[in-house]
Amino acid sequence: KKSNPAILIIFGGTGDLSKRKIIPALYNLFLEDRLPDKFAIIGTSRGKLTDEKYRTVLLNGINEFSRRGKAQKEDWAKFSANITYESADIKDPVSYKKFASNIEALKSEWKVDASLLYYCAVSPDLFCTIAENISQSKIENNKDTTRIIIEKPFGRDLESAKSLNKKLLTIFDEKQIYRIDHYLGKEVVQNIMAFRFANAIMEPLWNRNHIEHVQISVTEQIGVEDRGNYFDNAGILRDMIQNHLLQLLCIIAMEPPINFNADLVRDRKVEVLKAMRKIVPGMIDTIAVRGQYGPGWVEGKEVPGYREEKDVNPASNTETYAAMKFYVDNWRWQGVPFYLRTGKRLFKSASHITIQFKEVPHNMFNNQERNIPKQNRLIISIQPDMAISFQLESKTPGLEMTLNTVDMIFDYAGKTRVDAPEAYETLLLDVISGDQTLFMRADQVEIAWEVIMPVLDYWENTKMANFPNYPADSWGPENAEALIAKDGYHWFNLPDTK
Ligand code: BG6
Repeated sequence: KKSNPAILIIFGGTGDLSKRKIIPALYNLFLEDRLPDKFAIIGTSRGKLTDEKYRTVLLNGINEFSRRGKAQKEDWAKFSANITYESADIKDPVSYKKFASNIEALKSEWKVDASLLYYCAVSPDLFCTIAENISQSKIENNKDTTRIIIEKPFGRDLESAKSLNKKLLTIFDEKQIYRIDHYLGKEVVQNIMAFRFANAIMEPLWNRNHIEHVQISVTEQIGVEDRGNYFDNAGILRDMIQNHLLQLLCIIAMEPPINFNADLVRDRKVEVLKAMRKIVPGMIDTIAVRGQYGPGWVEGKEVPGYREEKDVNPASNTETYAAMKFYVDNWRWQGVPFYLRTGKRLFKSASHITIQFKEVPHNMFNNQERNIPKQNRLIISIQPDMAISFQLESKTPGLEMTLNTVDMIFDYAGKTRVDAPEAYETLLLDVISGDQTLFMRADQVEIAWEVIMPVLDYWENTKMANFPNYPADSWGPENAEALIAKDGYHWFNLPDTK
């Protein structure tokens, strides 16, 4: 069933996010016939552009960034007929009169009510200004059909996150606010819930009795690129762990929700964050490791170290790598360590979760080394390969009883990220239809900040004398290996090479 007519106003309409993600996602939804029959996009920014020029900017974005490649002329003509441009200063309340009259014109042309979706694809310090200006303008703010979409960072610490939430909640209800964590829209990430809660065999195994430890790994080959300004003020703990990695942890650790309803699902995730063992200052060096990349070579090209990147302080103390160990203190997970690691300029780009099961209670095979059963693993590979696989022990075919590790793989029938919907397609369709399941609720954001605040404060206040401490194209700083090795484990890397 198609959703109600909708008008999407994109603040930052000519920016990177619009060109790379938002418009390609909407275009793909259009090609799949998933947009409402009546749908309009009003892009806005300060530049003076005609509608035609604006459409060309967006078309170039699609041609460069869409997973489907170049747009077909006829499809684009149909889609782009719904796009207009309004030059406006979003800080100026007067600009909102223009939006109001655009909206009124569309509604009277369509002769129906429409949802109003405001996408703040701008710097986060403008979120409140936009919300404020919307509330003071004549544009209607209907609790059921007006929605505002914002992107992380949601604050830069607990206090600023609280004040952002507080401000937005004076203008909108929680059910109108769509806070994007794009990891939640990824195909395989969504599948974790299906995998856990639609298979009867998983639940009996999914606890401290059978699971020895969990690893969540999001490694990136790219450096900070042109985001030095933002990143040098953030660091990887804020940029990745506070949101994407902790959300993955929540999906792995959450109790089964009663049904697939936005608030019930999010309640279960909040419970996980509440159960996370409090980090106290004295223990930080034993559970958290930070790193910063130095120069090196990536695929035959020389790349600068972090401190030499554009817009980065040459004496920066900002971490580009973090590895951490967490515990979830509840009945299900008592004593099971969750190791998280993420970083830039690493050997390979890959996001995966490994669940390592306990050893067999007794080895009935002879004790030659090759016949000691390896521990089973469940590997959830989010990207670049999309797959869920079990590593099991099996008899090597032949005359002897020799064990061998084999993979039972669900590999999405060979699908790659190219044919699976992009996270933004899923998420934008959810905004249009009003489903908040995959979006961050205010309390989720705040409690995730609460979890990492002690480490953030500690890292900010203690400088690292040995930064940079890992070269580009490596697996990160050496002491990240030590963090996990001291518990008897090692970081699991996907077997294929880059
Ligand atoms: C963003 C971070 O949220 O996620 C970036 O700000 C990071 O620093 C990106 O590169 C990673 O997303 P993906 O989808 O490429 O894994």
